[in-house]
Amino acid sequence: MTQPEKPPIEIPQEPERTPSSATEGHASERPHHHPEPYISFEHVSKAFGSNVVLEDVSFYVLPGEVLCILGRSGVGKSVSLQHIVGFLKPDKGRIRVAGEDITDYDDEQMQAIRRKVTMVFQNGALFDSLSVRENVAFPLRERGELSEGQIQQIVKGLLEMVNVLEMADDLPSELSTGMKRSVAIARALAAQPEAILYDEPTTMVDPLIGRLLGDLILKLKRQLRLTSIVVTHDMRFAQRLADRVLFLHQGKAHFFGTMEEMKRSQDEVLRQFLDLDQLILPGV
Ligand SMILES: Nc1ncnc2c1ncn2[C@@H]1O[C@H](COP(=O)(O)OP(=O)(O)O)[C@@H](O)[C@H]1O
Ligand SMILES: [Mg+2]
Repeated sequence: MTQPEKPPIEIPQEPERTPSSATEGHASERPHHHPEPYISFEHVSKAFGSNVVLEDVSFYVLPGEVLCILGRSGVGKSVSLQHIVGFLKPDKGRIRVAGEDITDYDDEQMQAIRRKVTMVFQNGALFDSLSVRENVAFPLRERGELSEGQIQQIVKGLLEMVNVLEMADDLPSELSTGMKRSVAIARALAAQPEAILYDEPTTMVDPLIGRLLGDLILKLKRQLRLTSIVVTHDMRFAQRLADRVLFLHQGKAHFFGTMEEMKRSQDEVLRQFLDLDQLILPGV
């Protein structure tokens, strides 16, 4: 018997949800030692015209984990994130998010997914005319089910969590880049997501703020069990945060594995990238 071609990356599969298995309904038969990924790419390819950006890319992140996506500029890191929230669709392959195959979802179906998975943009994408407090209150007000007192209490807690409570009444224009990013994270959290996607959170912030943002991402992982995907150039940042690493190179998932596996890898291209970013320091 010939085996089907083995994928380079093993993705824990959830059982097929066929109508017959649904009627039989033995949910308890699922093995418990293998949690289903929260987000996965399965053989995803994407080109813009002749520009082939992703080619047969597979990876996953388990619930409550942090995945860091690494790779040189222009390699498709942001494009990958945009597929997860459905702003882009793959040419080939499947994308699963929160237990659903979203590959063919229309915009309305994606709205529900985007309530579970929110993206924190680099510029923060805050409302300029609203105070920090009102920016964070916005998703809470949209829900339309909370009293003003409840809203203010939640906002206070979120601003405390991201260390910007003193700036509650400031306008975004009065904040530093790092603080804007913290407020954007607080606003993302107000929507009570299950996962957050960060696109280069430490770019253009000073090292101290970068450190605080890292602390924050870890705190959210530990306290809220949030699943995170962090696109970053910053190897030290990745080293602190990542449970798993995806290294994109020339359109391929050149490396996908745990942080420990990455550090041990002898792969030439990966080593070059790591050495460039001085990950391997004596005693680290
Ligand atoms: N909407 C788009 N239309 C056409 N080309 C795009 C689009 N978005 C990204 N690209 C191209 O895809 C490639 C990867 O971009 P990107 O994911 O932004 O890189 P990075 O890894 O630096 O985040 C680049 O060549 C970029 O020009
Ligand atoms: Mg990018």
